[in-house]
Amino acid sequence: MSCVRVLAIETSCDETAAAVVDDGRAVRSSVVASQAEIHARFGGVVPEIASRAHVELICDVIEQALVEAGTSLDEIDAVAAVRGPGLAGALLVGVSAAKAISIATGRPYVGVHHHEAHLYAAMIEDPTLEPPLVTLVVSGGHTLLIAMDDHGSYRVLGETVDDAAGEAFDKVARFLGLGYPGGPAIDRIAREGNPEAIRFPRPMRSVGLDFSFSGLKTAVVQYVRKHPAAEVADLAASFQAAVVDVLVEKLQRAADETGIDTVVAGGGVAANSALRQRLVDLGAAGGLRVVIPRVALCTDNAAMVGAVAAYRLASDGPTPLEAPVVSNLRLV
Ligand code: KG4
Ligand code: ZN
Repeated sequence: MSCVRVLAIETSCDETAAAVVDDGRAVRSSVVASQAEIHARFGGVVPEIASRAHVELICDVIEQALVEAGTSLDEIDAVAAVRGPGLAGALLVGVSAAKAISIATGRPYVGVHHHEAHLYAAMIEDPTLEPPLVTLVVSGGHTLLIAMDDHGSYRVLGETVDDAAGEAFDKVARFLGLGYPGGPAIDRIAREGNPEAIRFPRPMRSVGLDFSFSGLKTAVVQYVRKHPAAEVADLAASFQAAVVDVLVEKLQRAADETGIDTVVAGGGVAANSALRQRLVDLGAAGGLRVVIPRVALCTDNAAMVGAVAAYRLASDGPTPLEAPVVSNLRLV
C-alpha cells in the first residue's frame, strides 16, 4: 500500500472521536471526547442527547486530531467515518462531517463498519499482525467471534443469542447500584471481591461458539433477592469471572475448530482487567499468539477506524456519498 493518510471519525454511540492514521497502522493522533458524564445521570445513553452532543463536539475534536498529528486537511488522502452499526442520529453526525470534508477537499470518503474497526485495533497494537486470525469482539451492543481469513474476508463463527457481554455488565452494574457505564464500575469493585464467592452459571459454556448472557444477569438478580446481605464486591467479581470464563473458553474453541493460531480481542469489554489477564495467560500457555490492544484502542476510538479505512479504500475504492448510515449494518 502506498502512503495513505486518513482522517477518521467515530460517532456511533457516546464517544465523539477523530484520529489521523498513516498506512492503516501508524496512529499520528487519536482524540476521544467521552459523553459518559452527560449520560450517567440517565443510567444509559440517551440517543437524542448523544446526537446533540456530537454536533457540539465534532468540529473541535477533528481540529484537535489534525493539530496533534501535525497535519492539515491539505495533507489528508481520505476521510473516513463509521456508518454502522450504531445509533442512527449519532452516526449521521460523523458521517455528515466526513462527507462535508470529502466534498470540500475533493478527497475520497470511506464508510467503515464499527466491528471491522474494533478488529483492526489489534493491527495498530501489533503492526506485524496479518490474517488469518480469530477475533473476539465484545462491546456494549455485540458479542461476536469472527474468523478473519484475509483483509475484508470474514466468517462469523459465533454471536450472542440474547444480551451482549457489555450489556450484561451494564445491566448488572445498574442492578447493583454501581452506576453507568457499568463495565468499568464492575471491573473496579471486583478487584476487592472474591471471584469464587458465588458460583454463577456459565451459559452455553460447553456447546458451540454462540453466547448467552441474559440468564446470567437473571441469576445475579435472583441471588441478590435470596441473599440481600451479599457483598457487592463478591457479586461483581463472581459475575465477571463467569463472563470471562465463557468468553475465553469460546475464543480458545474457535481457534481449535478453525485451526487458526492467532487470536485477538477488541471492543469495550476487552478493556476488562480480568479478561485481559486471562488472555495474557492464554498466550503464555503456548500454542496461540494472542494480541490484546491497549485499553484506549479497545473502547470506542477513531484510530481503529483510520486503520481499517486504508484497507477498504485500497480494495473497494471510495464509498459513494449517497451511502446511508445503517444502524444494524452487518459485517457479512
Ligand atoms: O466498544 P464500546 O466502547 O462501545 C460499543 O461499541 O458498544 O463498548 C462499550 C461497552 C459497555 O457496555 C461498557 O460497560 C463495556 O464496554 N466496558 C467494559 C469495561 N470498559 C468498558 N466492560 C467490562 N470491563 C471494563 N473495564
Ligand atoms: Zn464499539
